[in-house]
Amino acid sequence: MTPFRLGVLVSGEGSNLQAVLDSLHGRDGIEVACVAASRPDAPALARARAAGVPTGVFAASDHPGRAARDEALAEFLTAHGVDLVVLAGFMELLDSAFVRHFDGRVINVHPSLLPAFPGLRAIEQALDYGVRVTGVTIHFVDEGIDTGPIVAQEAIELPYALDIARVEERVHAVEHRLLPEAIRLIAGGTVRIETAESGARRRVTIEGERRGER
Ligand code: GAR
Repeated sequence: MTPFRLGVLVSGEGSNLQAVLDSLHGRDGIEVACVAASRPDAPALARARAAGVPTGVFAASDHPGRAARDEALAEFLTAHGVDLVVLAGFMELLDSAFVRHFDGRVINVHPSLLPAFPGLRAIEQALDYGVRVTGVTIHFVDEGIDTGPIVAQEAIELPYALDIARVEERVHAVEHRLLPEAIRLIAGGTVRIETAESGARRRVTIEGERRGER
C-alpha cells in the first residue's frame, strides 16, 4: 500500500512535530515525508533529522518575497509527494496561490477555540480576555487567518489565575493528542469538507460520526 505522506511545516520548538513523529510516522500507512521550517534555527529541525526525515529551510528573507518563498516551498512539498501539509507551529502566513494549490490538503493546529483568538499569541489573548474556557482547534487552511473549516476541537477549562506556563502545558498536551487523531482520520479518507450551495455554511463531516460511532 502506498503510504499517506505528510509534509510538516514548523517555525519553532516542534513539540507537535514530535507528537506526529512518535504516534504516526511509519505506522498505519502514514509517514512524515519531509519537514520544512521558516527559520534555520528552529529546534524542530533537529527533531526531524533525528527521525531521519528530510528537511528544508524556507526563510522569507532568502527569497525576493513571500510569493517566491511559498512557490519554492510548494515545489519542495510536491517533490516529496506530500498528500497533506500540516502546519505544526508554523508562524507565518501562506499566500493565496499556495493555499489554492493545496486546496483542502492543508491543516493547522491552533491554540484556541476558533473563531475566538485567531492569529498570534492566542493563549495570551485568551488569558488577557479572562475567558474561563479555551482549547485547541485543528482546521483546514483557507485564504483567511485561522478561518478554515474545523476538523476537531477540544475545550480546556481555565481555573482562576492559572499562570501562562501551566496553560501552555495543558494546551500542548491536548494538541499532541488531537493533531495526530485528526491526521489519522484524514489519512483514512473519512473526512469531507461540505459546503452548502450558498457558500454561507460549511462543515467538516467525519464518516461514522453521524451514526454515533464517534
Ligand atoms: C502550538 O501551541 C501551536 O498551536 C501554535 O504554536 C505552538 C507550536 O508549538 N500555533 C499557532 O499559534 C499558530 N497560529 P510546537 O512548535 O512546540 O509544536
